[in-house]
Amino acid sequence: MSFNLLKGKRGIIFGALDENSIAWKTAETVHAEGGTFVLTNAPIAMRMGKIDELAKKTGATIVPADATSEEDLDNLVAKSMEILGGKIDFVLHAIGMSVNVRKGRSYTDQKYDFTAKGWDVSALSFHKVLQSLYKADAMNEWGSIVALTYMAAQRTFPDYNDMADNKAYLESIARSFGYFFGKEKKVRVNTISQSPTPTTAGQGVKGFNSFINYAEKMSPLGNATAQDCAEYTVTLFSDYTKKVTMQNLFHDGGFSTTGVSQEVVDNFSE
Ligand SMILES: NC(=O)c1ccc[n+]([C@@H]2O[C@H](COP(=O)([O-])OP(=O)(O)OC[C@H]3O[C@@H](n4cnc5c(N)ncnc54)[C@H](O)[C@@H]3O)[C@@H](O)[C@H]2O)c1
Repeated sequence: MSFNLLKGKRGIIFGALDENSIAWKTAETVHAEGGTFVLTNAPIAMRMGKIDELAKKTGATIVPADATSEEDLDNLVAKSMEILGGKIDFVLHAIGMSVNVRKGRSYTDQKYDFTAKGWDVSALSFHKVLQSLYKADAMNEWGSIVALTYMAAQRTFPDYNDMADNKAYLESIARSFGYFFGKEKKVRVNTISQSPTPTTAGQGVKGFNSFINYAEKMSPLGNATAQDCAEYTVTLFSDYTKKVTMQNLFHDGGFSTTGVSQEVVDNFSE
């Protein structure tokens, strides 16, 4: 399935680690839709992941950047325009990491150095990316910037830990920066609130397997997969969504507005 929705558009895709990554599926789908892009990830992920394989498949160039480093980001933005031959039309921020989650610290027993690091990587990095693009005047008019988030920003999921607070901050940045990017550059900024998805980051959350099954049963359309998310992201990069900005868009098969489903109720029948 391909409609050439992104023909002639240039972008930057953050966060493709392996074939399960939402960013990986997005890169493949953007490529199928005619878009060209630079792939980027933290230098350490270059060694652990398989980004070279994705670059080869999609004809992309890789420019490493730690998304917490302003210097790396400024270099990434400048190099991307050089490599792609002009200003940028779309950007995907697909970055998340909690040191507290990794180290098994609960929400009520956080080590604040870990909290600060996770916030910098998962939330503030989005502001840094936006500011770097903004200051370099790197975005074309009617360009589109998307970051990925999760519903724990609005409702409590105890095992999501400090990532819930990071996602709330991330979503707020999309609104705040979206104002300036819209007014001054006619660029849209949105977050997609995605279903639980079996990726490296997703599976790091305690009890993930039970939770993804529960979400599947609670969602009238079933969980949205990484590929579904890639396709939704492509619509937001396309010219068919030009006036959608500063939104948090739920992409979750209806989970966020379902009170309870019959399958879940049946589990509690006497
Ligand atoms: N998997 C889920 O259940 C789910 C649900 C909703 C939202 N999301 C969000 O989707 C996004 C993508 O995650 P994913 O699930 O595809 O997992 P993933 O583990 O494949 O991707 C996370 C990426 O973040 C990158 N990263 C970490 N630190 C970085 C840094 N300092 N600089 C640059 N990149 C860095 C990693 O290298 C990795 O590529 C994240 O924001 C995540 O929170 C995931």
